[in-house]
Amino acid sequence: MQGLAGRRVLLAVSGGIAAYKAADLVRRLRAEGAAVRVVMTARAQQFISATTLQALSGEAVRCEIFDSAAEQGMGHIELARWAEIILLAPATASTLARLAHGLADDLVSTLWLASPALKAVAPAMNQQMWRAAATQRNVQRLCEDGVLCWGPEAGEQACGDVGPGRMCEPQDLVQRMIAALNGGDLQGVNVLMTAGPTREAIDPVRYISNHSSGKMGYALAAAFAARGAQVTLISGPVALPPPAAVTTIAVVSAEEMLQAVLARVASCQLFVACAAVADYRARVVAERKLKKSERQESLWRLELEPTPDILATVAAQPLRPWVVGFAAETHDVENYALAKLQAKRLDMIACNDVSRTDIGFAADDNALVVLWQGGRRELARASKTQIAGQLVDTIVDVWRSDKR
Ligand code: C5P
Repeated sequence: MQGLAGRRVLLAVSGGIAAYKAADLVRRLRAEGAAVRVVMTARAQQFISATTLQALSGEAVRCEIFDSAAEQGMGHIELARWAEIILLAPATASTLARLAHGLADDLVSTLWLASPALKAVAPAMNQQMWRAAATQRNVQRLCEDGVLCWGPEAGEQACGDVGPGRMCEPQDLVQRMIAALNGGDLQGVNVLMTAGPTREAIDPVRYISNHSSGKMGYALAAAFAARGAQVTLISGPVALPPPAAVTTIAVVSAEEMLQAVLARVASCQLFVACAAVADYRARVVAERKLKKSERQESLWRLELEPTPDILATVAAQPLRPWVVGFAAETHDVENYALAKLQAKRLDMIACNDVSRTDIGFAADDNALVVLWQGGRRELARASKTQIAGQLVDTIVDVWRSDKR
């Protein structure tokens, strides 16, 4: 089935190198049955030609605010009313800034302001520009205005840098659009999650890790996505397929997980830390494999240092999302969890009794006690999928009633 059959999509292209992906995006949107019209900023035309996008969309591409061909020269108002969703892809730092401030000084920014349509942005820029405080503020403001923020991804950039700022792949944007247009009460809510274990290298072949399978975090990500949330899942090494309609980012170590989280935390309303982050890592990672024969004594003393606490780092940020943590304990479970709720300044904590072999860690079932300031809910033993649904219900109920 075509997920966008009969939908009216207005694609706004701004001027970054990722504009070349707009051609593929138009093709994929049409393959899903959408009617696509394209508008471009002046700079976008330096990266991709209007002729290309016109041929692929089958519609005239507009770049100018004043359209002498349109009746009364008001083509932009007509387009603004026509669109069901406006997607700005790629969204450059400059265009994001203009939209965040409500400027209307070209066709794209005027349409944005003039349209009641659902709106989404797919940022694409140099990693330093993305991390800049001004960009983060602008994105946060757009999110507060109800704009969906899809991406960016982290990785190698056209400029040679490595970091967050790559535009989401066109197929991912199409999946997100299908989810956004086809319902769910968490539309417009950005959820950032961590899941799985982390691996802390000792040398090129050895590492410290734990038994986390990632099942609970993956089930939770799928449950959020099923309710229409935009979910980004930062995952340690697991043997699970990425959940559908979730942006999954693979990391290995606690430090990588922290960086991946910090690069995206500004645009999320909920942060859920499900990962079993290794608590310690080798103070010095050996560049070459450590040989048994090179050691003087039979005992091996490995010096360890703590890893960064990702959850506490996010919870300590001034402009922070609503924060949910997990506590895996073997005894006195609720007391430890309550102490953690206070110490890490969390909004909610879900506790797992990992002394039981029938639930938790690699098992398919789980049971949780969920605690928050002045509240408690028990989720009785059930499959991780069912527990995930109930936990999402609990998180959303308490988050929505919290007037913090
Ligand atoms: O302190 P403890 O490790 O028990 O806390 C567990 C919670 O903190 C989980 O939500 C886990 O994802 C998060 N955590 C983290 N970074 C760490 C350690 C734990 O985000 N380094």
